[in-house]
Amino acid sequence: MKKELSISAIKEGSVIDHIPSNVTLKVVDILDLKGIRGIISIATNLSSKAMGKKGIIKISGKDLTKEEVDKIALIAPHATVNIISKYDVKQKIKVAIPSTINRIIKCSNPNCITNNEKVATKFYVLGKDPLKVVCHYCERNMEKEDISLL
Ligand code: CTP
Ligand code: ZN
Repeated sequence: MKKELSISAIKEGSVIDHIPSNVTLKVVDILDLKGIRGIISIATNLSSKAMGKKGIIKISGKDLTKEEVDKIALIAPHATVNIISKYDVKQKIKVAIPSTINRIIKCSNPNCITNNEKVATKFYVLGKDPLKVVCHYCERNMEKEDISLL
């Protein structure tokens, strides 16, 4: 008897692959999964030749938005997003940290206009690895440990 079943392939939707195991659930958190009627499979601590352990998320019937893909890049810079159509991988997107980040992250300066008025955050990326950004409005510099997602 074969004791090991892998997660099923999906017919239409998105597969996020090569997620470091320890951030798999964080990636789930940032996706808008309300109202998805298809099967959502989340697996973590899978063995991977390249990564040791990895996580994978499969969402039937959902196309990720650019904003979601960019958010994934901030948490899992080496993840791959696969767009599946009729069981085939239609598109393979290597996520990338954009040079400007609109919304997504919060300014760490309590006096920043974005924390006091209805103004969307905007940051310029100064470094990608490690992540370093500067706020467009108050010029606050933020490094990995100061960065929190909205
Ligand atoms: N996948 C899926 N359903 C499909 C097709 C693919 O769930 N109908 C998943 C696969 O399980 C894999 C990912 O989508 O996790 C990418 O598929 P594929 O490109 O075929 O796999 P690899 O070549 O291993 O991908 P990579 O080169 O990115 O490692
Ligand atoms: Zn600011």
